[in-house]
Amino acid sequence: MMKNTILVTGGAGFIGSNFILQWMEREAGPVVNLDKLTYAGNLRNLERVSADPRYTFVHGDIANRKIVGECLRDHRPRAIVHFAAESHVDRSILGPDDFIRTNVGGTFALLEEARAYWTALTAGERESFRFLHVSTDEVYGSLGPGDPAFSEKTAYAPNSPYSASKAASDHLVRAYHHTYQLPTLTTNCSNNYGPYQFPEKLIPLMILNARAGKTLPVYGDGQNVRDWIYVGDHCEAVRTVLAQGRAGETYNIGGWNEKTNVEIVETICELLDEFCPKDPVIPHRNLITFVKDRPGHDRRYAIDAHKIERELKWHPRETFESGIRKTIFWYLENDEWTKEVTSGAYRQWVEKQYASRSGVTRA
Ligand code: NAD
Ligand code: DAU
Repeated sequence: MMKNTILVTGGAGFIGSNFILQWMEREAGPVVNLDKLTYAGNLRNLERVSADPRYTFVHGDIANRKIVGECLRDHRPRAIVHFAAESHVDRSILGPDDFIRTNVGGTFALLEEARAYWTALTAGERESFRFLHVSTDEVYGSLGPGDPAFSEKTAYAPNSPYSASKAASDHLVRAYHHTYQLPTLTTNCSNNYGPYQFPEKLIPLMILNARAGKTLPVYGDGQNVRDWIYVGDHCEAVRTVLAQGRAGETYNIGGWNEKTNVEIVETICELLDEFCPKDPVIPHRNLITFVKDRPGHDRRYAIDAHKIERELKWHPRETFESGIRKTIFWYLENDEWTKEVTSGAYRQWVEKQYASRSGVTRA
């Protein structure tokens, strides 16, 4: 018999670790975390639960079918929650290989092993098993200013190697349901922010640079729009879909928080002026610098989250105002975490990524 165990992939990353921490607080079942520990994976995120007998870590690559197969046979989960991916658009532009290997090949390997495992279950176990694939709103492409938000019916039009690799994985998941009846669920979520986000992404990068008196590199004209959701709300939505979602369905998840990048950076600067008035450069907004745009930069994302709200009664709890305050406090209080993740390889990435993006400072 399965012991109510779930297998989480990519649980040492930003959203995966928030998900496991929330799961261990609110749910009873054991969690197995399968993670390769790339630059984005950090077991420190999970220190709070590492001694909990319900938590098991397996170091491994989702693209390695032997490891995935053993993991399924050893732990006999009732569900797989699949977060593992290469997730940063800029990295996918500089080097797409790992994105294809993990996001496409890794998801394929996981689906094949899940299918073999699921096929051998009893009828009752097969019925309740779920493969939940965590995906992104970027698969839908870019919106114009007056376009309606992305719904589950919006056609796919991915624009970056990252979003194309995620779109490919979504299609594979869809096909495994259609062809083999594997009980899949897919979620497409908008931009997350919150604790443990690796500082290559907009919000933590801006918080850390502003505190250190470094320039705040805004791509292009800064008018690109993203739809922000607090990571805890995303994790709650994933738990809701896992518990109540209909097999074979997709659910869009978003926080109803469309903001331009300049608005985001200015908000961070204003809050830091209030919380950290002794920082090297005050006001922090003097550090805003417009730099060369991201190639193929999507102009606007917006999620229509009506389906999950109507069918599963999930609603985001945080407003952007409450979520961003919590997030900034977390980064202020977790200096050690930040120092650790911004040493070594992170510095080399920042140098490579921003070297060719000389900018114009706003002040
Ligand atoms: P992340 O980059 O912070 O973490 C990814 C995790 O996956 C890391 O722990 C890494 O070690 C692990 N991993 C990478 N390749 C692996 C492999 N081959 N085998 C096993 N583990 C591997 O990513 P994130 O921001 O937490 O995103 C998690 C998932 O959510 C991704 O699938 C992403 O596409 C999706 N998503 C992210 C956002 C966002 O705003 N961050 C929004 C919507 C959807
Ligand atoms: O929409 C969901 C997606 O959101 C996820 O699928 C991705 O995994 C996640 O990385 C995120 O992608 P984005 O490209 O939107 O996130 P990022 O934080 O890299 O950038 C947010 C916006 O800020 C984007 O318009 C680019 C801009 N930006 C980013 C960086 C790193 C800047 O202007 N300057 C920067 O230095």
